[in-house]
Amino acid sequence: MLKPLLPQFDPANESAYQQWRQQKLLDYPTRIEQLLIEIENPARLSQTERAAMLQRIGKSNMAVFAGPGGGDPDKAIPRRLGAQFGLRSLDNNTGADDDGITALEVKNDSWHGQYIPYTNRPIHWHTDGYYNELTRQVYGLQLHCVRMAAEGGENALMDPEIAYILLRDRDPALIEALMHEQAMTIPENRVDDRIDRPDRSGPVFMAGPGGSLHMRYTARKHNVVWRDDDLTRQAVTALQEILNSDLPFVYRATLQSGQGLISNNILHDRSGFNDDDEVPRLLYRLRYFDRVTADRELDKQPF
Ligand SMILES: [Fe+2]
Repeated sequence: MLKPLLPQFDPANESAYQQWRQQKLLDYPTRIEQLLIEIENPARLSQTERAAMLQRIGKSNMAVFAGPGGGDPDKAIPRRLGAQFGLRSLDNNTGADDDGITALEVKNDSWHGQYIPYTNRPIHWHTDGYYNELTRQVYGLQLHCVRMAAEGGENALMDPEIAYILLRDRDPALIEALMHEQAMTIPENRVDDRIDRPDRSGPVFMAGPGGSLHMRYTARKHNVVWRDDDLTRQAVTALQEILNSDLPFVYRATLQSGQGLISNNILHDRSGFNDDDEVPRLLYRLRYFDRVTADRELDKQPF
C-alpha cells in the first residue's frame, strides 16, 4: 500500500491544488542563473550560502552551486556538502564505489560499456533510480563536477512539481493515470543470464517523505513498459511534449569544474560529449534515500 500524498497532490482536491499552485508559480525562476549560488567552501557553507541554496531548493527542488577547488577529486567534498542538507544515506547502487559515490566517466570495459552513464552518449530524460524497489527510492540527488568535457555534456533540468502542474492543468485524469500502481513496469535486468533485478511495477507520481511529490520516470523506451491503457498513453505523450518543449521551466546547464547540483531527484537529461583524453570528464553522482531538509541538527550527527 502506497503512502498518502499531501492534499494538494490529490487529484480530487481542487481547492488545495489551486492554492498550492498559485504559491508555487509565484516568482518561479525561469532562468538557471536564478538557481546559481556561489559558495566559498563546499565542506562548510556559511549560513547565508546554505540559506540561499535552501531557498532555491524549497522553490524549485534544486540549486546549482559554484565553488572553488574545481578539479579536486576528493570525494569528501560532495559528501560533506550533501550532509549539510540532510543528505546522508547513500544508495550504494551497482556501479557506485564502496563509499556509495559513483564516479561518472567514460569507462571502456565491457561491464560499464553496457550502461550509458559510463559512455559519452546522450542520456534521455529520467529521474535517478526509477528502477529501484518502491521502498528504496532515491529522493535526493547530487551531481558534482570535478572536470568538464572538452565539448558537450549539458544537462537539461526540470522540477517534477512543474511537470505535475503542466499535466494536471491539461487534465487531472492524466495525473490519476500516472499515479496508478501499475503505470510503469521496468523489465528485469539480466547479467550473463542471471536475473540481477526482477520486473518492477509502480507509479510515476507517488508520495515521498512527508507526503512530498516523488517522481519515477524514464524516457528510454526499451527500459519501460507502460500500462496498456488510453489515458496512460495520453499522459506519457503529454509528459514527453512538456519535457521536449522550450518552456522556460526547462533549464539547461553545463556544469563547470567545481559546480554541481543539489536536488530532490529532479527530472534531467544529458547531451553527448567529447573528452579531451588528457583531462576527461569526471562527475560524482550521489544518490540518497533522503530528501533535502533544512534541519540544522542533522549537520551535527557523525557520518
Ligand atoms: Fe541521472
